Amino acid sequence: MHLFTTLTHFLLLPLALGLPALESYPKKPAIVLVHGAWVTRAFWNVTTSALRSSGYRDIVTPEFISNHIIEPPTATHRDDVALVQKELKKLVDAGRDIVVVMHSYGGLVGSDSIEGFVKKAGSSKGGVVAAVYHTAFIVEPGNNVLGSFGDGPSPDFIVPHPGNDAYFDVQNPRDVFFNDLSDADAAHWLPDIRSAAAGTFTSNAQYAPWKDVPCAYLFATVDNAIPPAAQHAFFDNVQAESKFAWVTGEVKGGHASAISHAGDVASFIDTVARK
Ligand SMILES: *[C@@H]1O[C@H](CO)[C@@H](O)[C@H](O)[C@H]1NC(C)=O
Repeated sequence: MHLFTTLTHFLLLPLALGLPALESYPKKPAIVLVHGAWVTRAFWNVTTSALRSSGYRDIVTPEFISNHIIEPPTATHRDDVALVQKELKKLVDAGRDIVVVMHSYGGLVGSDSIEGFVKKAGSSKGGVVAAVYHTAFIVEPGNNVLGSFGDGPSPDFIVPHPGNDAYFDVQNPRDVFFNDLSDADAAHWLPDIRSAAAGTFTSNAQYAPWKDVPCAYLFATVDNAIPPAAQHAFFDNVQAESKFAWVTGEVKGGHASAISHAGDVASFIDTVARK
C-alpha cells in the first residue's frame, strides 16, 4: 500500500469508529485566562502563543470592563465577574473541562467567577477542574483588595487618575510591572496600561474556590507590584481551609512574567491541566 493511502486509512479510522478526530484526542481542557487591573486581555498574548504551541486550542481571555473609563464608573469587581462567567457558561454548555488562570487583581475576579461552575465529580458535563493563581490576590469572602493589604498602607504606586478619582492609575508601570522587560519590550507593552475603577478595590469577595476545586500558585520572585512576601501571605492564608493540596511553582520574573517568562508560565499551566 502506498504511504499516502496508509496514512489516509489511519487518519480516517477514528472517524469510521465514531471516535473524535486524532488531533483533539485526548482532548485538552479549555483555558480561561483572567487578566489583572490596569492591563487588557492582551496581557496574556505571549502566554497564549506558548500554550498554543503546547497543543491548547481553546484559550479564552475575557476583557474586563473595570479597565475602561466610563460614566458612571464600574462600581464593583462583580461587573468583571459577569464578563468572565459569560465565557465560562459557554464552555460548560459545550461540555468542556476548564482551567481558570488568574493574574493579580484577576485572582479576585476569577475566584468569584468559578462559583456555580465547578465540575461535579463523575459528571460528563463540563466545568472548572482547576484554578491557577499566578502572582495573584487570594481574597477571602467578606474581604476585598484594599483589605488584603492588611493594616499597612496600600502600595504608593497606586495614585488617583487625574481629574477622575473614581479611577486609579499606576505610577511608573515600567518599574512596577515591567521591571524585567527590555526597553524595547517595555515600550511595546506600556501603551497597554489603563486606569482601574476604584470601586473594584473595595467590593468584597463572595466565593472561595479553594474549598471546592484543586488549586495551584505560581509565585513570581522579582515582582514589584505584589512582592513575593505578599504572594506567600495570600497562599499561606488559605492553606488550612483548602480541600486539595496545592500545586506550587516559581518563576524568576516580575509582575508581567506572563510576558517576560511566558514559556515558564505556560508550562506550569500545562502541568496543572494534565493532573
Ligand atoms: C495581542 O494580540 C492581538 C491579537 O493577536 C493583537 O491584535 C494585539 O496587537 C496584541 N497586543 C499586544 C500589546 O501585543
